[in-house]
Amino acid sequence: MATLKEKRTCGQRCQDFGHFVWNSDDGTFMGRTPEKWVYISSYYVAFYVVMTGLFALSIYVLMYTVDPYYPVYQDRLKSPGVMVWPDMYNDEVLEITYNMSDKHSWMKMSSCLQHFLEPYNDTKQSHCNYYNCTSGKYFFQPKFDAPKHTKWSCPFYQSTLGNCSGIEDSTFGYTTAQPCVIIKMNRIINFLPNNGTGMAPYVNCTVLEGQENVRGHVYYPENGTMDLSYFPYYGNLAQPTYVNPLVAVKFDLINQRHAKIQCRVMANNIAYQNIYEPYEGKVDFHLTALS
Ligand SMILES: *[C@@H]1O[C@H](CO)[C@@H](O)[C@H](O)[C@H]1NC(C)=O
Ligand SMILES: *[C@@H]1O[C@H](CO)[C@@H](O)[C@H](O)[C@H]1NC(C)=O
Ligand SMILES: *[C@@H]1O[C@H](CO)[C@@H](O)[C@H](O)[C@H]1NC(C)=O
Ligand SMILES: *[C@@H]1O[C@H](CO)[C@@H](O)[C@H](O)[C@H]1NC(C)=O
Ligand SMILES: *[C@@H]1O[C@H](CO)[C@@H](O)[C@H](O)[C@H]1NC(C)=O
Ligand SMILES: *[C@@H]1O[C@H](CO)[C@@H](O)[C@H](O)[C@H]1NC(C)=O
Ligand SMILES: *[C@@H]1O[C@H](CO)[C@@H](O)[C@H](O)[C@H]1NC(C)=O
Repeated sequence: MATLKEKRTCGQRCQDFGHFVWNSDDGTFMGRTPEKWVYISSYYVAFYVVMTGLFALSIYVLMYTVDPYYPVYQDRLKSPGVMVWPDMYNDEVLEITYNMSDKHSWMKMSSCLQHFLEPYNDTKQSHCNYYNCTSGKYFFQPKFDAPKHTKWSCPFYQSTLGNCSGIEDSTFGYTTAQPCVIIKMNRIINFLPNNGTGMAPYVNCTVLEGQENVRGHVYYPENGTMDLSYFPYYGNLAQPTYVNPLVAVKFDLINQRHAKIQCRVMANNIAYQNIYEPYEGKVDFHLTALS
């Protein structure tokens, strides 16, 4: 059986390829005349120039309309979360358990609070936040009046926390059955507590379990108030030295010295009953003093 196809030698194939690259008979280069190649190239050059231009334009428009001082994505006005310090967790449950006669145990609690309060050091605050804020009023700042195109932030002094400031008592009460905890509400840009009605939010702690083990509790500052001058918050770029207002609570534990406590930040526009957001508007924790 003879093959019908004529076997071509390697040399012939190379010649064919050579013909394809440059065909002198009809003057085409890679199957097309140089003229056509110029048309095709200029078409693609124009195409990419236009695409690049459109891309650059859209990026430019986006950057131009975005306000760097305000987050782009903010889904509805959120309700702030609430946290407690010392932030001691046991299986995702906040359990502040300490042994008042074990130095290692109470040191752990007090150094957690010392560390947490470092930014609130009176000397530090009076250097960073020296604006004379008017307490009891929202601190609206439409303009960027502070140095370096920023807005003022009100100072929050550690000493405001009185007997829970760690200044007179560096153990924060953890060598006794009168421990201090510190409540902080997360910041939300442009959030106005009580919806702008001029009433300050405050912390209200209630004993959920073990009422007989808690003789009482005291708030610092008085009434657990978070002053209005810390609101609204304009964001980290506008207020780089902002510090959250804090409320400290000193509990007086008796009997079994164990209780489950809930601390809520009270304001008519702070939600606290969303079961999917357990830290929204409130924080629950166990407090136990061992001996
Ligand atoms: C608390 O600490 C003291 C001293 O270290 C120790 O004797 C005691 O057993 C501890 N109490 C508990 C409940 O662990
Ligand atoms: C605050 O800082 C100053 C200077 O750094 C320091 O001397 C002082 O002890 C600090 N105060 C507290 C309560 O830690
Ligand atoms: C705040 O008040 C003090 C004394 O009353 C004054 O020296 C200081 O300049 C004031 N600061 C501002 C930013 O107004
Ligand atoms: C702070 O503690 C001291 C000593 O326990 C007490 O005499 C004082 O009344 C407390 N201060 C406040 C504001 O509760
Ligand atoms: C807050 O105020 C706005 C406008 O002033 C009003 O539309 C809204 O219903 C108020 N919300 C609450 C919870 O009072
Ligand atoms: C604190 O919360 C408790 C329980 O919800 C409530 O009975 C009490 O009136 C509240 N206190 C204040 C000052 O809002
Ligand atoms: C704390 O609350 C009491 C009773 O409502 C009030 O008389 C007192 O002026 C409040 N103190 C402060 C500093 O707001």
